[in-house]
Amino acid sequence: MPSKPTAASRLVLLAFLLGISAAAGHDDAAARRTMEQFAGFPASDDGDGGPSSDFRVDSEGLQRQIAELASFSDSPAPSVTRVLYTDKDVQARRYIKGIMNQLGLAVREDAVGNIFGRWEGSEPGLGAVATGSHVDAIPFSGKFDGVVGVLGALEAISLLKRSAFLPKRSLEVIMFTSEEPTRFGISCLGSRLMAGIEELAQSLRKVVDNQNVSFLDAAESAGYKLHLEDLPSVFLKKDTYSAFIELHIEQGPILEKEGIPIGIVTAIAAPASLKVDFEGNGGHAGAVLMPARNDAGLAAAELALAVEKHVLESGSIDTVGTVGILQLHPGAINSIPCKSHLEIDVRDIDEKRRNDVIEKIRRSATQISKNRGVELSEFKIVNQDPPALSDKSVVDAMEFAAKQLNLEYKNMISRAYHDSLFMARVSPMGMIFIPCYKGYSHKPEEYASPEDMANGVKVLALTMAKLSLE
Ligand code: GLV
Ligand code: MN
Ligand code: MN
Repeated sequence: MPSKPTAASRLVLLAFLLGISAAAGHDDAAARRTMEQFAGFPASDDGDGGPSSDFRVDSEGLQRQIAELASFSDSPAPSVTRVLYTDKDVQARRYIKGIMNQLGLAVREDAVGNIFGRWEGSEPGLGAVATGSHVDAIPFSGKFDGVVGVLGALEAISLLKRSAFLPKRSLEVIMFTSEEPTRFGISCLGSRLMAGIEELAQSLRKVVDNQNVSFLDAAESAGYKLHLEDLPSVFLKKDTYSAFIELHIEQGPILEKEGIPIGIVTAIAAPASLKVDFEGNGGHAGAVLMPARNDAGLAAAELALAVEKHVLESGSIDTVGTVGILQLHPGAINSIPCKSHLEIDVRDIDEKRRNDVIEKIRRSATQISKNRGVELSEFKIVNQDPPALSDKSVVDAMEFAAKQLNLEYKNMISRAYHDSLFMARVSPMGMIFIPCYKGYSHKPEEYASPEDMANGVKVLALTMAKLSLE
């Protein structure tokens, strides 16, 4: 629970918000007066300003929570595996709701389990300032992807409460459902729906996981008894949020390499994902001679190499392509694969260049199927999203916050996608990055230091405070 705010803590926050350097010294009485006008609460009723009264993140508490959350995992530590609507996901959801309740936030969930913790502002009718991220984790990944943007956001709220900040616009922390595409192949499922994408609501009616469990059954097993007609209830109403800010680890090496504590994201690269299936005749690995084969596995292998070739042909370092899933059927050493399945991820900061690569992959798949006498039974573009730009008003507020905290920052592009990609469709959006060790992410070695996290939490808290008062 937040400790009792002191007058000194309020003044520190006020100094930040007014753009006064805390180190520069200021007139307490004037600051108090302005605080009362500006933030709308009395600043003279308590406190002696002890050593704990500055704008300080509870790093120990945050690290403990990150470790506790990491224990809800379907793979052994230090890896984390937490897949949508599994028991571990349900436990993690309960854990997050518990913290929201402890902080005195009003907690609600929508039909697919996006979780919202709201701190009501003095003008609740205005669009709220929201923050948040995800806690689902791809197989054998780390503790920090997404988690920093949920637990860190809750600590930012706690910090503002400890500082006796009174929001004008309400502040909300969102835990998005299934940012990762692991279970149903759909990335940012919760935020896509919140952004009002009708086609997704339609396709969720039919989608199944690799065990043939439908989305609706999986949701029900996690406690979300969904009816198809409930899905549009997830769509956000216009102007629900006046701003959305996501705190996240960079997932790349730049900040650490350059020794810069804060990244301010100006744009998110355009992601796409494809599913491809080949079918051949299969047969006995000894008895079918090479000229008689139409090997679906080799078609997949050839396509995987074609993906790399087409990506490199783009001539830009910003074009990337990955074959992250390659499955062969029946999967026996002495059986020629009769079916193969690939899932291909292609991204670029330039949407057209990415689309050109996808077109080349499509042509290669057709050509390979002809050359090898296998059927191209599916070539499906699962998603082909445009990039998103951060909003200037949010970028300005994040830069302001970093400056007030004397933290060096760098404007940068996010090459990973995030729920912010979709929140940008329904709200002015911005993202705060913090460094991560060697840029590692989506693997157990992922690490961000407590100091970097504390900096990110402070920039987030101050950005939200500023935007809340606008
Ligand atoms: C998010 O997890 C991504 O793959 O960028
Ligand atoms: Mn991720
Ligand atoms: Mn993430």
